[in-house]
Amino acid sequence: MSGDTAMPEVDVYRLTRSLHLLRLKDRETRFFEGLWEIPEGVTYNSYVLTGSEGAVVFDTWKGKWSGVFLEALRGIVDPRDVKYLVVHHMEPDHSGALRQLVGEADPIVLGHPLTKGMIESFYGLTPRFKPVGDGERVTLGDVDLVFHHTPWLHWPETIMTYVAGEGALLSCDAFGAFGVFNEVWADELGEAGWERYMWYMKKYFANVIGTYHEWVVKNIEKLSSRGVAPSLILPSHGLLLRGSRLQHAIEKYLAWGRGLPEQGKTLLVYTSMYGFVERIVEVVRDYFASKGRRLVVAGFTDGGRVDLSDVISEAYDAESIVFATATYEADVHPLMRHVASVIARKTPGGRKTAVIAIYGWGGRAGRVMEELLRNAGFNVVGVVEFKAGEEGRNRDKIIGLLESL
Ligand SMILES: [Fe+2]
Ligand SMILES: [Fe+2]
Repeated sequence: MSGDTAMPEVDVYRLTRSLHLLRLKDRETRFFEGLWEIPEGVTYNSYVLTGSEGAVVFDTWKGKWSGVFLEALRGIVDPRDVKYLVVHHMEPDHSGALRQLVGEADPIVLGHPLTKGMIESFYGLTPRFKPVGDGERVTLGDVDLVFHHTPWLHWPETIMTYVAGEGALLSCDAFGAFGVFNEVWADELGEAGWERYMWYMKKYFANVIGTYHEWVVKNIEKLSSRGVAPSLILPSHGLLLRGSRLQHAIEKYLAWGRGLPEQGKTLLVYTSMYGFVERIVEVVRDYFASKGRRLVVAGFTDGGRVDLSDVISEAYDAESIVFATATYEADVHPLMRHVASVIARKTPGGRKTAVIAIYGWGGRAGRVMEELLRNAGFNVVGVVEFKAGEEGRNRDKIIGLLESL
């Protein structure tokens, strides 16, 4: 079904004999987590499992749509028949409608032991609560659930559920993606659509869980060591995965989790106040073009700026990163400090980086950037710093720096 025009768009789909998807298409949130630009929007996926002795609801939506959530749920089950609410993750994009659901249905909440205290503080509620252990099995009539603790995907309390009878892994944030789609399953996309979709998946990975990328590998390996080999992966954002698309997503997740860069990809990030840095950008572009090397350019200027969320996604799998910046009040340009700090936080360490800095009356930005990047664990191959307008005179130094990447 689709909501009427006054309501956000809601989809309810029956996925298997007993599993249903409740999906809200959020085109309103401009900054996910108050931080990441998402012009492509995002979906919140909740799931409902109906069994012989009642229903289980897995996660909800962002709180502003609590009423719509309950209404959509009523299209599948009477809320009073909801025996369990599984809280995979307390981030409010998934737990937002918890208060209303608990108020109406009074289910037993199943979650990580840490979840109980978070429900109390976030929502002022003390629902009936049963903590689930790592690997614990819970049955409800013919419904058979196995819970796995998957810390840092995306918070320490995050868990996943394996629905044994359906071969379905409810993976919460993991394997999710930004974007609003008409499709339900990723295999409904053609090759070009899938390629675009993988960009949204990488963007979600890099921006939201990039800091914890090592836990991606640990958790995937833990699940496979327990014999969890799902035929369906049902994430809490984006499209659902099965078949070859599921396998491809796992391969990409392992590559990103291991911090493997795309060979030969360099990202140039720059801030330019009056156009002097943009002249350096042309030198860098020309060099990469002459060498036939791949360069992605992301600029923050007086005329426009790229989305930081896209820059993080590009930085995440770049083999090397060049930072070109203006000096500002005898310091690095504040926007560059911010962008570089977020890249440093989200990107696997050890990447080769280079700094080109210019100044009008006194240089310092180069040293500041070098320290920031070294402290973040990057390999700073060099810093070139000179007066604004002198890129011609310093061309050999710039080329020498780029050659060492
Ligand atoms: Fe999250
Ligand atoms: Fe999320």
